[in-house]
Amino acid sequence: MARTTASGPADTGVTTVTDVRTASATHPAPGVLSRIFGTDNGAPGDGHEQVVLCHDRTSGLKAIIAIHSTALGPALGGTRFHRYATEEEALEDALRLSRGMSYKNALAGLDLGGGKAVIIGDPAAKAEGGDKSEALLRAYGRFVQSLAGRYITACDVGTYVQDMDVVARECDYVTGRSPEHGGAGDSSILTAFGVFQGMRASAQARWGQPTLRGRRVGVAGVGKVGHYLVGHLVADGATVVVTDPFETAVNRVRAAHPDVEVVADTRALLNAALDVYAPCALGGALDDETVAQLTAAGTSVVCGAANNQLAHPGVEKDLADRGILYAPDYLVNSGGVIQVADEIEGFSFERAKNKATKIFDTTLEIFTRAAADGVPPAVAADRLAERRMREISALRTVLLPGARRG
Ligand SMILES: NC(=O)c1ccc[n+]([C@@H]2O[C@H](COP(=O)([O-])OP(=O)(O)OC[C@H]3O[C@@H](n4cnc5c(N)ncnc54)[C@H](O)[C@@H]3O)[C@@H](O)[C@H]2O)c1
Repeated sequence: MARTTASGPADTGVTTVTDVRTASATHPAPGVLSRIFGTDNGAPGDGHEQVVLCHDRTSGLKAIIAIHSTALGPALGGTRFHRYATEEEALEDALRLSRGMSYKNALAGLDLGGGKAVIIGDPAAKAEGGDKSEALLRAYGRFVQSLAGRYITACDVGTYVQDMDVVARECDYVTGRSPEHGGAGDSSILTAFGVFQGMRASAQARWGQPTLRGRRVGVAGVGKVGHYLVGHLVADGATVVVTDPFETAVNRVRAAHPDVEVVADTRALLNAALDVYAPCALGGALDDETVAQLTAAGTSVVCGAANNQLAHPGVEKDLADRGILYAPDYLVNSGGVIQVADEIEGFSFERAKNKATKIFDTTLEIFTRAAADGVPPAVAADRLAERRMREISALRTVLLPGARRG
């Protein structure tokens, strides 16, 4: 293979990507493409494979489909429909979320890579003054179809199972559809079940028993996932404390579980002498102040459903240094993606639930590896996901007779 040398390109007539990048005289200054494609260090987490910009003038669709990695298979991840303040913010979200899906799918043991899409606009229906229309969703479906299965879409913030039914009228690569259309329906049921498995594993690692019986667990956010999680915890014998600014959500929990304690806000929850803190609302829940509060209150386990809980790099180490066991978010909240991935084969709730049960074993494995390697569990999780991507994608070097490629 030709390489550019200090004295100029080796004279083989072949130019590799490496050649182009190192030939600084001819390579443009790094810009948005470098942000997307990353460096050439070959690490599984670095850089995206493909980013597709989609525009349909008639319906007003503006979407970004980001495929981070197909190392393990077609890239699976939801479609976020959101009013981004800037186009850069939309691109950053697509890049960050799709990368996260590669790691989540890898650790969940799925034969799926990582991707995610964002649609820029108000997710309310056109009739209500928003941007969502049948034509827009179907136009989006045609773009997903044009990728011929490299990307499989699903629901995310601002999109619902009914929207996926509409997308599917133009597209074969859609999951998370309604049960009436053969879909798996509400993914929060198995997400909550998976978080509960991760919490049982955390209890095993911390207190020697895989149960929350007799523990005090605080759940921040009792929406779709949080309220199912409360049900598992109550059934297991935990004392549960919750908070949620949305009164209807709190009332639903109160009605189903009258013994659950309700506090005013997250600050009060963190001061409620918890054994376990379960962030089940927004991202960035674990910042420096929260870690300090958890330490002061003697809380020793964090395990919840929220995505992207670590507010900034370094929080995972701070938690570990203070003796707080953190169950990595993308590991324990993978029950939902396990559910929609199962739908691709024709949905079986029991099969999907069995897979989600394995979150217990994987969480324990991560804690063991973290202890052995002297790193926080979040780092051990990243390493295991990267190892799987590396090892399984390397199988493509074994030629299958008859297969033209890969
Ligand atoms: N639904 C899934 O299958 C799934 C899968 C993986 C990850 N997640 C993640 O889990 C989290 C919860 O998802 P969901 O589907 O239950 O969402 P949801 O919108 O149904 O519930 C979130 C709840 O959090 C509450 N909330 C908002 N701010 C709060 C605060 N400061 N303190 C306490 N509560 C607050 C909201 O009022 C709402 O009731 C999100 O971070 C989501 O990305 C969800």
